[in-house]
Amino acid sequence: MVAGGDPGVAGSATAQEHWSSRFAFVMAAVGSAVGLGNLWRFPAEAGQNGGGAFVIFYIACVALIGLPLLLSETLIGRHGKSSAVESVRVVARESGGSTAWSALAVVGAIASFLIVSFYSVIAGWVLYYIGVFAGDLFASIGSGNLTGGAFAGQSAEQVQGLMPALFDNNAVMLPLHALFMGLTIYVVARGVTGGIEKVAVYLMPAFFILFLGITVYGAFSGDFAEALAFMFAFDPARLLHGPVMLSALGQAFFSLSLGSAIMITYGAYADRGVNLAKTSGMIAACDTSVAIIAGLCIFPIVFAAGLAVDSGPTLMFQTLPASFQTMPAGSLIGLLFFVMVFFAALTSSVSLLDAPTNWIRYKFGWTRARTAVLVGGLAFVIGIFSALSFNVMGEWYPLDFIAMFREQNFFGVVDGFTGKIMLPLSGLLTAIFIGWVADRRLTDAENGISGGLHLFWRFLVAWLCPIALTVILILGIFPELIG
Ligand code: PHE
Repeated sequence: MVAGGDPGVAGSATAQEHWSSRFAFVMAAVGSAVGLGNLWRFPAEAGQNGGGAFVIFYIACVALIGLPLLLSETLIGRHGKSSAVESVRVVARESGGSTAWSALAVVGAIASFLIVSFYSVIAGWVLYYIGVFAGDLFASIGSGNLTGGAFAGQSAEQVQGLMPALFDNNAVMLPLHALFMGLTIYVVARGVTGGIEKVAVYLMPAFFILFLGITVYGAFSGDFAEALAFMFAFDPARLLHGPVMLSALGQAFFSLSLGSAIMITYGAYADRGVNLAKTSGMIAACDTSVAIIAGLCIFPIVFAAGLAVDSGPTLMFQTLPASFQTMPAGSLIGLLFFVMVFFAALTSSVSLLDAPTNWIRYKFGWTRARTAVLVGGLAFVIGIFSALSFNVMGEWYPLDFIAMFREQNFFGVVDGFTGKIMLPLSGLLTAIFIGWVADRRLTDAENGISGGLHLFWRFLVAWLCPIALTVILILGIFPELIG
């Protein structure tokens, strides 16, 4: 069951697994990073936060905070060669620090667990739209109208009505949530070489081909100029605004899968020969390009249809399908678009489930399969409440008494708490741990950089990350501090 374990403990439930190649590691890590965060959340957040200012702050967060932390996390994993929590303990012990630092990975693993609970609900909507566009494609083939817009003969209101109808229909939403979670559990249960890297190695290249194809299509047949202007229009008044800054930071963490124990876990499957600095740079570059290009892929189509891009979470599921109505070969491209989103979502959800699964299986010595079923099953149950937040529980605000969560339903609270508090908090602890506690000889031997770049990395991890993360966390949680 456990593939490629250490010879000494092979056969035991917790033998440490390994990627079968560097390519597999990179694809799996990029697969974790690139997901609904890039395709659904980033364009929605950029659209709602006024475009340019958000985008610029986002890029700064990725380069100055995200990338150094990404290297720190993969480094902890590769040195510890165990679950994320155990790996932190190993590094702490060897550095003469307290093993209580492993709390940073506990926070991360719990965040992953909570995120996968609602991630699967949203991925279920993706499955629904795959079905809708597939049905429409068959209809358009039947009527010989393959090159025309999607949903021929239906009004724009009818197409926009698909999403509210889905949100009201638990009989569709919950089975799709179950289906997606089931798929995720299956892949994680099959292990690193048998499951996680298999989906990454096949689905990520397929994702990139579809993504580039659809972007080129959008650039030629949509309103590319308006999208460019919107994404990079810079309004300095919005830049130093606590909530916008916290959103950009939260988005950077979410998108890079940081602070979630995932990159520690994935780093632990990597071999000594892999250059972690290069790999981290590649992951961050791919992830950021996909987020920005996703904006340049979705906005032109939406602008061309004359619709607004500030619709937030409904952008991909309501505005975009309606936009495909007016686009050439709309049903086919719409179908390919949602298949592509599904590929990205699955490689991310697998990483989200793997981090807590790995932690629990090391802790209790259980098999991977059993742990994945238990952890994924529990996440499924919690996810039901997120799904119900879109209908019957929509107006139940569990933490209404906290300013940050005012008028946020269950889904809003879990999303906000994980993205804006747990991930940055785990990142903050990681920065302090690597910057101040971990033995320098140990980190220097692992990180794969030297000279000025190395000093710069140390400066970012030890100084900039802790200070910036603390300030942004405080401003985000207490926006009244700067009015
Ligand atoms: N990074 C993934 C995305 O952008 C999802 C994710 C979030 C994974 C948080 C891990 C942690 O969709």
